[in-house]
Amino acid sequence: MIYRLRSAVLIVLLVFSGQLLLAQAKPARPAVPSPANSHVGFAGDDTCAMCHATQAKSMEHNPHSNVASLHGREGFTCESCHGAGQAHVDSGGDKTKILQLTKASAKTADSTCLTCHAGAHPNFERSPHAKAGVGCTSCHSVHSAGSEHQLLKADQPVLCYSCHTEAKSAFSQPFHHKVNEGLVKCSDCHDTHGTFGNNNIKSTADQNAVCTKCHTETRGPFVFEHATVKGEGCLGCHSPHGSQNARLLNVPNVNQLCNQCHSPVSAGTVHGMNSGSAAVQPCISCHVMIHGSNVNPAFIR
Ligand code: HEC
Ligand code: HEC
Ligand code: HEC
Ligand code: HEC
Ligand code: HEC
Ligand code: HEC
Ligand code: HEC
Ligand code: HEC
Ligand code: HEC
Ligand code: HEC
Repeated sequence: MIYRLRSAVLIVLLVFSGQLLLAQAKPARPAVPSPANSHVGFAGDDTCAMCHATQAKSMEHNPHSNVASLHGREGFTCESCHGAGQAHVDSGGDKTKILQLTKASAKTADSTCLTCHAGAHPNFERSPHAKAGVGCTSCHSVHSAGSEHQLLKADQPVLCYSCHTEAKSAFSQPFHHKVNEGLVKCSDCHDTHGTFGNNNIKSTADQNAVCTKCHTETRGPFVFEHATVKGEGCLGCHSPHGSQNARLLNVPNVNQLCNQCHSPVSAGTVHGMNSGSAAVQPCISCHVMIHGSNVNPAFIR
């Protein structure tokens, strides 16, 4: 008896810790509500497929149906998104008796999707996109995605450029992150579903993390930090999308950049240079470790 009790407790503990592990391993997996087919007013996928062969076919290899097939085709149906459809069926296809996601407002469509996806995208409703009426179906299509990737209407950056023409011109500058070339994606730096930061920037406590995850050599910590790298951040000197200037610098002349902050210093330093002088060498020809150094307080090496 005691033995049984113990093993019961053990099983409970195992199940519980298993769930914790699962929850940690993949917190993003949406919860699918209980089987719709068993509810009154629901017609079931097979009925819908009789009249909507195209949409039914589009669901065959859809990430949504992949989940359903794991559960013996139960639990995920047309009606998970379009609502109970028996009345629509009985009326021979009266459009007003079904949720028309082609016509629905962004708000209505979003709340449909978010019944399952709010866990992974908790910030969506207060994101700049949602506030501007750009909803899930502006970027995703369930039945006729234009991309192999995550049901997107088109791949990045084409999808984004369809609205963000100013970004398109920035990435056409002589120096730019290779987004058009497919090496870097908009979503490496932005989460279009909303973040806690400005500009949908993927945010963490370290404001530079969005850049230093790729540019690890600039991350530090250094024995001698260039204070402004941590203070103002990378954007104090670089334009993230593209620039007329080499190294994506904000200004054409490096010395001019340095002198925005150092002009009082540079005039009287060991090098005796004046910020206005045309004969100066580039500051970075000596201060090569401009992001910080472990050996020299003036970043000479
Ligand atoms: C007897 C045939 C029939 C059955 C069964 C049927 N529909 Fe329809 N459905 C129609 C017709 C006809 C229309 C109107 C098409 C039009 O006017 O473009 C329609 C329209 C729709 C629309 C609106 C399309 C739009 O313009 O946005 C949705 C969504 C839809 N059906 C979903 C379903 C779902 C889900 C089921 C199963 C629960 C289902 N239908 C079952 C015939 C049917
Ligand atoms: C994950 C949510 C979801 C599921 C599941 C789903 N739909 Fe849709 N449906 C949509 C959205 C969103 C649209 C709007 C057009 C689009 O995004 O592709 C739509 C549009 C439609 C339309 C309008 C015509 C069109 O293609 O635009 C019909 C008809 C339809 N769905 C029927 C169905 C049927 C039948 C099923 C089941 C086989 C189904 N839907 C499953 C979300 C869903
Ligand atoms: C009934 C719950 C439910 C609803 C409603 C729902 N989804 Fe999903 N969605 C899922 C599940 C479950 C998956 C599969 C996730 C996985 O494989 O981890 C999924 C997958 C996806 C994926 C692909 C993710 C990937 O990694 O490939 C996208 C994109 C998506 N859904 C968008 C939408 C949009 C847009 C809507 C609204 C039109 C919507 N979903 C409505 C449950 C739902
Ligand atoms: C402005 C465009 C845009 C809007 C609006 C948008 N998405 Fe996405 N979504 C994307 C892009 C781009 C990706 C691919 C991200 C990547 O590759 O890292 C994506 C990926 C996803 C994924 C799979 C990966 C993940 O992060 O979970 C899901 C699920 C998803 N979106 C659901 C939604 C839902 C639900 C909505 C509405 C509440 C929505 N999206 C609104 C552009 C958008
Ligand atoms: C290397 C990282 C990175 C990539 C890749 C990137 N962005 Fe940005 N983006 C940023 C940063 C950082 C800001 C904030 C700029 C600021 O505060 O001055 C920003 C700002 C923006 C803004 C706000 C307006 C503006 O220009 O300041 C939009 C819109 C935008 N990005 C769209 C895009 C699009 C569309 C893509 C892909 C075509 C993209 N971004 C790729 C880092 C990136
Ligand atoms: C259907 C049009 C549309 C599409 C597609 C779209 N956006 Fe947007 N985006 C907007 C609108 C409208 C806003 C809010 C107004 C603004 O700030 O420009 C916005 C805002 C943003 C912002 C925040 C700008 C700020 O000032 O805070 C970023 C970053 C952004 N979008 C990036 C992207 C990326 C990356 C993609 C592609 C994955 C994308 N957008 C796709 C229309 C779109
Ligand atoms: C997804 C990885 C990735 C992220 C995130 C990223 N970069 Fe880059 N960056 C690259 C790659 C790859 C290159 C060099 C390839 C190329 O474009 O020639 C590069 C080049 C650069 C260059 C040098 C350009 C030149 O002319 O040599 C600068 C400066 C730069 N990035 C700054 C940033 C800043 C600032 C951020 C954050 C806003 C950032 N990067 C985020 C991948 C990334
Ligand atoms: C004080 C201004 C300043 C700040 C802040 C700054 N950089 Fe730089 N960065 C420069 C200068 C100047 C160069 C050009 C160096 C050269 O040409 O030798 C450069 C060059 C680069 C390069 C090209 C490769 C290299 O090391 O020469 C990358 C990548 C880069 N910076 C990324 C970043 C990242 C990521 C951040 C934020 C963590 C950052 N920078 C912050 C001034 C700055
Ligand atoms: C946005 C302002 C800003 C820019 C731009 C900037 N710096 Fe700095 N720099 C600082 C600050 C702040 C410190 C720390 C000063 C202190 O601790 O007294 C610093 C420290 C230094 C030091 C260390 C000397 C000391 O007093 O500790 C050197 C060398 C230096 N910067 C060189 C440069 C060069 C070269 C450039 C141009 C590539 C540059 N800085 C661009 C703000 C800036
Ligand atoms: C010919 C090489 C060289 C050039 C070019 C150069 N520096 Fe220096 N800089 C040095 C040396 C060497 C030191 C002293 C290092 C030490 O004391 O250990 C120094 C020190 C500094 C210091 C810290 C000492 C102080 O005065 O507070 C700053 C700030 C500085 N330089 C900024 C600049 C700026 C800005 C430029 C470009 C306008 C520049 N440097 C160009 C070699 C150079």
